[in-house]
Amino acid sequence: MPRDKLSAKQRKQLLDAARKAMKNAYAPYSHFRVGAALLTKKGEVFSGCNVENSSYGLTTCAERTAIFAAVAQSGPRLRIRAITVVNDRDVPCSPCGACRQVIYEFGSSASVFFKSSKGWKEAQITDLLPEGFRLQ
Ligand code: THU
Repeated sequence: MPRDKLSAKQRKQLLDAARKAMKNAYAPYSHFRVGAALLTKKGEVFSGCNVENSSYGLTTCAERTAIFAAVAQSGPRLRIRAITVVNDRDVPCSPCGACRQVIYEFGSSASVFFKSSKGWKEAQITDLLPEGFRLQ
């Protein structure tokens, strides 16, 4: 299948939305602020930030906050076309394993934009998460 390419305008829209959401991060423990923004197949944009907790394991990453906000605001038929992740240190930051599985749930053909050790990278979720889990 041919790769579904975003326009430069769409990529910038996601980057701007992710940076804006990052400013709302609640990260008093790690001091690592993260923002994420996703584009749905319908063309809507939703964003989120990381929300930490003094019980560290309850922390939610920016990617999952964005996805859960999208479901809460737009419904369970969410299909993710692309998701962009940024952080306030501008260091490499690819989605964690848990977020990869959650992205896959709503977008098995999603593109993921993030800073890698070699600069900005666009990856397919299926390359970041081979053999993602499906209950069926
Ligand atoms: N974090 C994210 O929000 N997304 C990522 O892709 C990596 C990690 C957050 C979780 C925690 O609040 C902080 O970054 C440090 O791990």
